[in-house]
Amino acid sequence: MAASSSSFCHKNALSLSTPSNNHTKLTSRDSSLRFPPSISFNAPRFRVSLLSKSNRNLILKASATSAAPAMDQITSSSSSSEVPTSVEVDLGNRSYPIYIGSGLLDQPQLLQKHVHGKQVLIVTNTTIAPLYLEKTIWALTDGNPNIKVESVILPDGEQFKNMETLMKVFDKAIESRLDRRCTFVALGGGVIGDMCGYAAASYLRGVNFIQIPTTVMAQVDSSVGGKTGINHRLGKNLIGAFYQPQCVLIDTDTLNTLPDRELASGLAEVIKYGLIRDAEFFEWQEKNMEALLARDPIAFAYAIKRSCENKAEVVSLDEKESGLRATLNLGHTFGHAIETGLGYGQWLHGEAVAAGTVMAVDMSYRLGWIDDSLVQRANKILKLANLPTTPPETMTIDMFKSVMAVDKKVADGLLRLILLKGPLGNCVFTGEYDRQALEDTLRAFCKS
Ligand SMILES: NC(=O)c1ccc[n+]([C@@H]2O[C@H](COP(=O)([O-])OP(=O)(O)OC[C@H]3O[C@@H](n4cnc5c(N)ncnc54)[C@H](O)[C@@H]3O)[C@@H](O)[C@H]2O)c1
Ligand SMILES: [Zn+2]
Repeated sequence: MAASSSSFCHKNALSLSTPSNNHTKLTSRDSSLRFPPSISFNAPRFRVSLLSKSNRNLILKASATSAAPAMDQITSSSSSSEVPTSVEVDLGNRSYPIYIGSGLLDQPQLLQKHVHGKQVLIVTNTTIAPLYLEKTIWALTDGNPNIKVESVILPDGEQFKNMETLMKVFDKAIESRLDRRCTFVALGGGVIGDMCGYAAASYLRGVNFIQIPTTVMAQVDSSVGGKTGINHRLGKNLIGAFYQPQCVLIDTDTLNTLPDRELASGLAEVIKYGLIRDAEFFEWQEKNMEALLARDPIAFAYAIKRSCENKAEVVSLDEKESGLRATLNLGHTFGHAIETGLGYGQWLHGEAVAAGTVMAVDMSYRLGWIDDSLVQRANKILKLANLPTTPPETMTIDMFKSVMAVDKKVADGLLRLILLKGPLGNCVFTGEYDRQALEDTLRAFCKS
């Protein structure tokens, strides 16, 4: 125990811990009507049979069932095949493909086959527009002269993910007389994707929608699964809708212009998949984190694909978040408190999630649900990814508690959390935990 605690940068975390075999008494109950008090989730059931040749030009032979590190199984090819890697989100008649590959924005037909009608509205921001707007317009219009493309360029930043900015999208759509057959295209990171998706869900009560994510965060997580929305001053993503896109087009070349800090932020979500449900993927990340930070395209293509497969499977099983899907929010309850408490845009979403993950892992350990080696591995990989492992010093216990009280996972006044339980790759979503463990975690990470 002493040896392990020295590897952490937060104060006292492990010295306060309960022994790992001490299953503390339950002082609360889960009050949700829709699912049992706590739900355990094991390692994924899916097995990847992929993959096809992707454009420029990876052949991903990796199988999630293989114990061997996947990087060893990924080879380059000089084939000029135009078939991208594709992961399907299986939602019955609302199923859609996620295309993953280098140079996909150079393949107009890929995008165009998912456009409905003859009017398109691209929603992007002031940073992304100079980089990719022209190319996206070309991809939409090349060989397709009848299409009319409008664009709206929003201010850049989480602090603009609000009702006022959303109105600019509606203003443009109405001024351009876009009708029900139009298509909205989200070109950008998670902020643009969430806002454009919500605008598409509500414009004329719902129009066609395509995601072109350009950050790691958006490519591995936010563009997939149909959660859309905006922030409220009192809490993150409190206003929104489930609304699925027609397709997600991930051109991995767009990551070349992404700042390092943003790249690391997205890795927090990649790490999350490993911790909650995919031990093999976590082990792969432990071996390949340097390659990811160095933007190795083959490593990235694999990490994106594997993340999308995890997300697609969870979403297919639980689209509207009755239980399983909530596990994708490991670290997010603490993380959202950091984002809201500090003011939107101060810490990046992934940075807040990273610190929040360490707190959730710490709490899981205090409850005796995981062993010390897992605590260390989680801390180590987040540090390797250049992510914070403690909340900002200005965060107080009261700040955490007040934001956590309005978290979407509160049901009948009871806060449910995603906590790790068992070996790597297993977690629970539960309101049944000793409240003292939460208190102790908050106390260990906050000065006051
Ligand atoms: N809907 C979901 O399921 C879900 C999941 C995770 C996160 N989110 C949301 O996603 C948001 C965070 O997303 P994000 O991390 O992508 O942040 P972001 O959208 O703010 O993008 C990060 C920054 O990178 C810039 N950028 C984007 N692509 C670029 C590129 N290719 N080159 C250079 N700069 C580029 C953006 O303009 C921005 O400044 C949060 O609002 C979070 O709540 C939603
Ligand atoms: Zn997230």
